[in-house]
Amino acid sequence: MIELRGVRKAFGKKEARVEALRGVSLAVREGEMAAIMGKSGSGKSTLLNILGGMMSMDSGEYSYGGQPVSFKSQKELAKFRRDEVGFVVQYFALAEDLNIFQNVALPLKYQGRSRKEIKEMVMGALSDLGIADKARAYPSELSGGQQQRAAIARAVVKEPRLILADEPTGALDEATGEEVQEIFRKLNERGKTILIVTHDAKVAGHCQRVIRMKDGVIEDDGLGGVPPLP
Ligand SMILES: Nc1ncnc2c1ncn2[C@@H]1O[C@H](COP(=O)(O)OP(=O)(O)O)[C@@H](O)[C@H]1O
Ligand SMILES: [Mg+2]
Repeated sequence: MIELRGVRKAFGKKEARVEALRGVSLAVREGEMAAIMGKSGSGKSTLLNILGGMMSMDSGEYSYGGQPVSFKSQKELAKFRRDEVGFVVQYFALAEDLNIFQNVALPLKYQGRSRKEIKEMVMGALSDLGIADKARAYPSELSGGQQQRAAIARAVVKEPRLILADEPTGALDEATGEEVQEIFRKLNERGKTILIVTHDAKVAGHCQRVIRMKDGVIEDDGLGGVPPLP
């Protein structure tokens, strides 16, 4: 489903220049659940942002479902993000001035769905995640675990094929983190392709594959082979 070839990305100029990705090649099959591990600064978030169409790359190729992802057209990129990708981050990033229903409804509004459809899909996602009773609550009224469930509901409500999670359990206690991990496992069972950046060996232990990054390259692609040169 995903094929990256020789992806490079640098930030800043001159002395401040940082090469976050220095030639990343990676293939991910549909239905896989993989962990991405590596020290802080190794390029994990940059990789995830490029995969989600949220950040452009300097060079290299990205093909998704056999089609090149066009970073040139903002319109096409926005459509890719809107329809294909669900993104979950460490600190939930819920809109504080919207209640949980409204937060989870946002991606569906962007898709231009009807009110009826939105209501059904949002309530479906909230019950799947066990927080249907929190629909009218505001983020600040929820525990960390409930907020992360709401954020996951928002990411999956549009039924994206690809779910990208950047340290989704990083701000949660161990028990809550395990609940969230269990949610990802169920989503994967339902066929979602899931990539999880994590420092937690337990979370990685639940994944079929562990991709290891070091200094902007993939040190181990988790398939036992040596990654190809860019
Ligand atoms: N927006 C940015 N501006 C400047 N440097 C950045 C930016 N994003 C990431 N970097 C740098 O790129 C490198 C990789 O960062 P990142 O992808 O966030 O790593 P990780 O998620 O593995 O901690 C780091 O050195 C980081 O400081
Ligand atoms: Mg990061």
